[in-house]
Amino acid sequence: MDWYDAAMPSSPLSPFLATALQGTDFGFLGKKYEGKVRDVYMPNDRERVLIATDRQSAFDILWTTIPLKGQILTQISTWWFDKVKDVMPTHFIAMPDPNVVIARNLKMLKVEIVVRGYLTGSTGTSAWVNYNKGVRNFCGNVLPEGMVKNQQFKSPIITPTTKGEEDELIDPAGIVERGYATKEQWEEIEDRAFALFRRGQEIAAQRGLILVDTKYEMGYDAEGKLTVGDEVHTPDSSRYWVAATYEERHTKGEEPESLDKEFFRLWLRSQGFEYGGKRPEITDEVRVMLAQKYISLYEKMTGGTFVLPENADVTGRIEKNLKAYFQK
Ligand SMILES: Nc1ncnc2c1ncn2[C@@H]1O[C@H](COP(=O)(O)OP(=O)(O)OP(=O)(O)O)[C@@H](O)[C@H]1O
Ligand SMILES: [Mg+2]
Repeated sequence: MDWYDAAMPSSPLSPFLATALQGTDFGFLGKKYEGKVRDVYMPNDRERVLIATDRQSAFDILWTTIPLKGQILTQISTWWFDKVKDVMPTHFIAMPDPNVVIARNLKMLKVEIVVRGYLTGSTGTSAWVNYNKGVRNFCGNVLPEGMVKNQQFKSPIITPTTKGEEDELIDPAGIVERGYATKEQWEEIEDRAFALFRRGQEIAAQRGLILVDTKYEMGYDAEGKLTVGDEVHTPDSSRYWVAATYEERHTKGEEPESLDKEFFRLWLRSQGFEYGGKRPEITDEVRVMLAQKYISLYEKMTGGTFVLPENADVTGRIEKNLKAYFQK
């Protein structure tokens, strides 16, 4: 693992360094909301414009921009929406620009639907951390004794969390009690979430990957139809492992090889960065190297070849494409 100190004098990606998308300010799109990565606009009641920027944050710090990262993540997201659109309705309407998704505005559920195929994780809401503490009824799922870290569940489980300031585990009974969904609605939500997950696992397997776990955000459209929104099976919402090495490593008690999108965290660690400590300089070489990592992630996941945009004026292109889209 010495990819992070490879010198890189010039690259086809160099022209995109100066125009990496830090943020957008498109007054003509209406009210704006800024997430960590995406700028979201509400041009009307029906639609929502999701613009993926190139912002790169880690450890609660906004560090830099990675050229083309927003485009790559948008393309992975739309690729997946296309692969699941026969499983259930999705919010996807159009991709008028490689950085932009136009989505149907949904009445979102107040819970995130986490589906897990394996006993893993490292946060307070993760399955492994809870199991290891002795929890055997996890969000209504009764787990057998004697499981080990990274072991596959007999069949996938759903572990919902509330969508507040802090993620909080909840079970189906709690969801009904708090009025987040009726019992009938929750049954449909679970059924669709499992169906999406099965599809995701099938497609990941074709790419030599294991879809380990993921998070869905669903809501109801104007006709009251259950619809999946946000993003599906993207590296930001999911965990992936390399299938070929899983069994052997697992048997030996080693951690699985993960398809990591945390390149930047890894790089920061390699530079000796610790939370609150001195910040390493983020050079253009580092930004190009990280962009290449995202490109190879895209290619591994979709099996396609990433095509560089012809024009480096990303902001100008997005504005032009969005104006054309909304003129229709
Ligand atoms: N089709 C949709 N209709 C309504 N709301 C949606 C739809 N798709 C996604 N959302 C919501 O829009 C917001 C998108 O914001 P975004 O994910 O960029 O930032 P965030 O979730 O606030 O923070 P983070 O950067 O940590 O993800 C989320 O609150 C998401 O639940
Ligand atoms: Mg989000």
